[in-house]
Amino acid sequence: MKKTVLELIPEHIKALAGYVPGKHIREAHRESGVAMVKLASNENPFGPSPRAVEAIRAAAHEVNLYPDNDATELRLALATRHGLAPEQVLLADGSLGILDIVARTLLTPGHSCITSERSFISYTIVTQAAGARLITTQMTDHAYDLDLISAAIDDVTRVIILANPNNPTGTMFDADAFDRFLQRVPDHVLVVLDEAYSDFAESFAAQHGLIYSRSMEHVRAQHTNLLVLRTFSKAHGLAGLRVGYGCGHPKLLEYFARVRNAFSVTGVAEAAALAALQDEAHISMTVKNNLAGAVWLIDHLSELGITAVPTSANFVYFETDENAAALAKKIQAEGVIIRPLGAWGISNGIRVTIGTPEQNERFLSAVKKVMAPAMLPAK
Ligand SMILES: Cc1ncc(COP(=O)(O)O)c(C=O)c1O
Repeated sequence: MKKTVLELIPEHIKALAGYVPGKHIREAHRESGVAMVKLASNENPFGPSPRAVEAIRAAAHEVNLYPDNDATELRLALATRHGLAPEQVLLADGSLGILDIVARTLLTPGHSCITSERSFISYTIVTQAAGARLITTQMTDHAYDLDLISAAIDDVTRVIILANPNNPTGTMFDADAFDRFLQRVPDHVLVVLDEAYSDFAESFAAQHGLIYSRSMEHVRAQHTNLLVLRTFSKAHGLAGLRVGYGCGHPKLLEYFARVRNAFSVTGVAEAAALAALQDEAHISMTVKNNLAGAVWLIDHLSELGITAVPTSANFVYFETDENAAALAKKIQAEGVIIRPLGAWGISNGIRVTIGTPEQNERFLSAVKKVMAPAMLPAK
């Protein structure tokens, strides 16, 4: 008997866990019947820049046409912004789009990708979907241990993916630590440095007198085995439009461009990203709100006896004595969607996006209301 298509699905695909997204606001509203604030996916709580919305309206008239496959205008603007040649920038449908290209280009069966445990779940998915092996190293104090990662490199390692800051723990390593690490990585391994939260991390690092990253300097110096990922989904407020980019060696990007799905950045997305990039006031307002919100949330959680990990991103991570999924459900019933981290293998881990001051207060009062009384400190 010949096998059916279903029976022929490869084992590594059957074993995939699939992405578990933050709950959509409409779905949560349907479930809980109350107006919702979403603090589950690290989006910009102020929405997109009004200039981006205007650009989206203008670009809507051209959606009968295929977009510019290279998103040339945006690519040039980003190259100028980072002091790079246009050939050192590749755009795709989110940084997830670029990660997918990296995996399909370099991660064939028999090869491996190294990252840390408790990091972004998409790294697992793209690696395993490509049939490659994922190796995760342990964290130290909720942060990437770069020494363990470099010690795990062997002949079949093809890619290392580092989230800086990390999602979900919010911790970062500074430019000096990364530069030392990069020197130890052999030429047969591509380092993918995912800087999705760079705008926020820069502001936290400056507060602590640290240099966040010299990643673009390495790209400028034509480093051959480094790819830096950035996105318009976070500080720029365009998560729903899917625009991200990779900066790296032109030859590497040339191969990636062949693998990328054609037209993966729409004309509407390109126009919005260009406008968002220019609206520096919107980004700096977002970053300032985030710095203040981080302090406020961490302090107020601490008053409730909850120790949150100091963050360098636009979210806060903490662990509870209760099951996180059950706690998130109760908080959702109070009108706030947060992210329980069971899918990351952290059954007592919670990640909450830093919102506007009103949203943060709403989250805190929900926590106060639903947390088991025994967990709250005695008055
Ligand atoms: C570390 C990290 N990288 C990448 C992404 C996804 O970015 P994009 O929307 O550009 O695909 C996220 C989103 O949560 C993230 O946390």
